[in-house]
Amino acid sequence: MEANPPKFKTAITANERLQNLKNTFETKYGESPLFFAYAPGRVNLIGEHIDYCGYSVLPMAIEQSILSAVSVSNSGTITLANTNPQYKDFTVLCSEDIVIDRENPKWHYYFLCGVKGIQEKFGIASLAGMSCVVDGTIPPSSGLSSSSALVCCAGLATMEANQKSLSKVALAELCAKCERYIGTEGGGMDQSISFLAETGTAKLIEFQPLRATDVKLPDGAVFVISNCCVEMNKAASSHFNIRVVECRIATKMLAHARGLDSSRFLKLAQVQTELKASLEEMLVMVDEVLHPEPYSREEICKALGVTSELFNTELLSANTQHMTHFKLHQRAKHVYSEAARVLQFKNVCDTKPAESVRLLGDLMNQSHASCRDLYECSCPELDQLVDICLNSGAVGSRLTGAGWGGCAVSMVPCEKMESFLKAVREAYYLPDPRRAAMEKQSLFVTKPGGGASIFLEE
Ligand code: GLA
Repeated sequence: MEANPPKFKTAITANERLQNLKNTFETKYGESPLFFAYAPGRVNLIGEHIDYCGYSVLPMAIEQSILSAVSVSNSGTITLANTNPQYKDFTVLCSEDIVIDRENPKWHYYFLCGVKGIQEKFGIASLAGMSCVVDGTIPPSSGLSSSSALVCCAGLATMEANQKSLSKVALAELCAKCERYIGTEGGGMDQSISFLAETGTAKLIEFQPLRATDVKLPDGAVFVISNCCVEMNKAASSHFNIRVVECRIATKMLAHARGLDSSRFLKLAQVQTELKASLEEMLVMVDEVLHPEPYSREEICKALGVTSELFNTELLSANTQHMTHFKLHQRAKHVYSEAARVLQFKNVCDTKPAESVRLLGDLMNQSHASCRDLYECSCPELDQLVDICLNSGAVGSRLTGAGWGGCAVSMVPCEKMESFLKAVREAYYLPDPRRAAMEKQSLFVTKPGGGASIFLEE
């Protein structure tokens, strides 16, 4: 039986963050919290934009997280507050339908995604009242999964407050699904690692069925995160869903060209499974079937034999209806080659050859080039930062998370760590006052952290 997220009885006074949050909670609500729900952010080491195509990814949890202090009552309301004054208080009646405004992705809607997910899963007619203060340490819109961690934290808190129980796998699946209420069609990596992470190890996350396997990283190197300081909010723009849609169309075109019933296929991995082909064979097939020039709607509709109406409703999402052209060849090439790199990365970690740091670095560099050139999910600042990291002693460096801004992750030999941090600081952060002001939370060494949990006062 798959375990629930762990519960820790803890002396709150021994942990400064918990104690501060408890104080804030007491000042705000005049009572003590009953428990704390914790969900970490993540850094993806390799396997970008392939989870929603059905392929495995290789992330680890980071120390930065969402922590919420929660009290439970029969007040009939859920009240949310945030330690960051930029995020305003919000109250919703337990008797009301929870409405999530996609047009306006405010912080509390992410929390409500988690609440709604639990409510629907258990068919709870009247949710327990909750008062919450949320404290986040993950830089927002930076590719470290602050939004999914908030959804996971909310799902966990709502489950606990309503005395329900789900395994970590079930919670991860539920939170991946309910985050779609906000409109992004993410693939489940972020929620999975937030629940399934364990201290000291990265994880290979596989889907259908969801499972996580330890990946022991080499001892000779550390992973350093650096934020390019360009913000990208996936729910507020259509970049992310455009890629999801392009992959979906490429799936149908490949299936159709190989004589499969294209209406049955939504993910690139399904085509591979059905054809019993290797990833290398899929790459050859992409070259044979798809052309590099962008496809127009008309060309796709004609090839698949679908009407323009069906195309809009079945293939496009709400925020991609405006699209006229689709790059199918480049996106599919990225996905199949990145899926192969994930397996190679895990294999190098498992077999631990003497040159593992260099081999992993090469794979990370290939991954960044593919994200930049084929998937076009980087941006000039992120590319500049990755170049600076490589020139400062990293053996591998790549964008992490959705991209179009946010963070790079670099693999740096332990003995070069100090000089690396200094060189990146001098080349990327200090010359620009805005970046310099953000440097402390933007450039840091990270190691694999633990997964979501509940803390109770001892
Ligand atoms: C976001 C999504 C994930 C994944 C990454 C890109 O973080 O939530 O599911 O698709 O982007 O790898």
